[in-house]
Amino acid sequence: MDFKLTEEQLAVREAARDFAQNVLKPGVIERDSKMQYPTEQVKEMGELGFLGMMVDPQYGGGGMDTISYVLAMEELSKVDSSCSVIVSVNNSLVAWGIETFGSEDQKAKYLPKIASGETIGSFCLSEPEAGSDATSQQTTAVDMGDHYILNGTKNWITSGGTSKIHLVVAQTNKELGHRGINVLIVESDWDGVVVGAKEDKLGIRASDTHTIMYNDVKVPKENRIGDEGFGFKFAMKTLNGGRIGIAAQALGIAAGAYELAVAYSHERKTFGKPINQHQAIAFKIAKMATDIEAARMLVYRAAWLKDQHMDYGTAAAMAKFYASEVAMNATIEAVQIHGGYGFVKEYHVERLMRDAKITQIYEGTSEIQQLVISRDIIKNGNLYVPVMDGNMENV
Ligand code: CAA
Repeated sequence: MDFKLTEEQLAVREAARDFAQNVLKPGVIERDSKMQYPTEQVKEMGELGFLGMMVDPQYGGGGMDTISYVLAMEELSKVDSSCSVIVSVNNSLVAWGIETFGSEDQKAKYLPKIASGETIGSFCLSEPEAGSDATSQQTTAVDMGDHYILNGTKNWITSGGTSKIHLVVAQTNKELGHRGINVLIVESDWDGVVVGAKEDKLGIRASDTHTIMYNDVKVPKENRIGDEGFGFKFAMKTLNGGRIGIAAQALGIAAGAYELAVAYSHERKTFGKPINQHQAIAFKIAKMATDIEAARMLVYRAAWLKDQHMDYGTAAAMAKFYASEVAMNATIEAVQIHGGYGFVKEYHVERLMRDAKITQIYEGTSEIQQLVISRDIIKNGNLYVPVMDGNMENV
């Protein structure tokens, strides 16, 4: 097997690393403390091409592969997951969803704005009563002939306060269950769109997470993505790719904490020698390194499968499930290695530990990932998941 990255992929990783270390790092502690949205940094990420990495250049994107996207996510997340979640949702949920399943008019109208960062997109699936159980949508889109009337409330929407383009999941025909669900492109300045208060969160505090209400919003039929009733499939297929982005975020958080912990272990001395000369610390480092490398293999493999147009849903679920667990464990250990210093903001690892937690929750909790994986094994009899023989089912 060839594990070598291409020149282009290495250049993307270098650019992301440089941006994260030199532009994101200086203000990251302050933005986190003050819950300050990274306006300038998002603008710069748009200019550098991080917001539309995989979008076709004809729509203003970078035309890159999923591996490059994952490498960038990893580097950005080593430093600032408030920024990387904006990159992830914009790239893999919003832009990829419109580009893969949208009409030519939708692509021409919305993709250039999203890819350049002129506006950020939001993916509006979760509701007060429909998080993991995504088919239980209460938001309704009533068919009025040439338009829908949209009503409902969406919760925990990433970039909810700043995004101007929302992909809203809504029920049109309850009797049809998940086949009665549509996804509509809604613009935030349309009548009836109301953005609620910003959430005060444990982690990714500089990203803006909001409740959004839709009150009798008139949405033209041409803003429905795909055929009538395709909405749930759209959400699931889009989330398969989204989960690769969040898995890469988790990997980056773990690797960022690990790098800080190793550096600190050389500097800090106890009992007359650097703490990494004590086996208690050396073994922690060995375990972190091994776990992170295993997570990296799963994440890169899921991205590679997607690039090969092979079935990657289960691979993405495995990558997210495992990498988010590694992120949680590695950040806890990084705080432990730092001792008292790890508990204060200045040393970064406490923030990474707080940021790690969300990777086990959003875009499908760890429990949902295990549901997806186990169903594939038990229901489909797919013992050696994912198949690597060119199954094209999951674009
Ligand atoms: N890929 C492709 N298709 C899928 C799929 C997947 N991963 N999962 C389900 N489907 C398809 C099924 O094949 C089925 O299609 P058919 O009826 O044609 O066979 C259909 O969708 C319904 O699936 P199920 O019968 O399995 O539905 P279910 O209700 O039993 O379970 C679920 C579905 C997997 C639990 C799903 O509800 C789920 O993934 N829930 C988690 C939702 C989630 O990830 N939310 C995150 C919020 S978004 C977010 O966090 C964004 C942000 O801002 C950061």
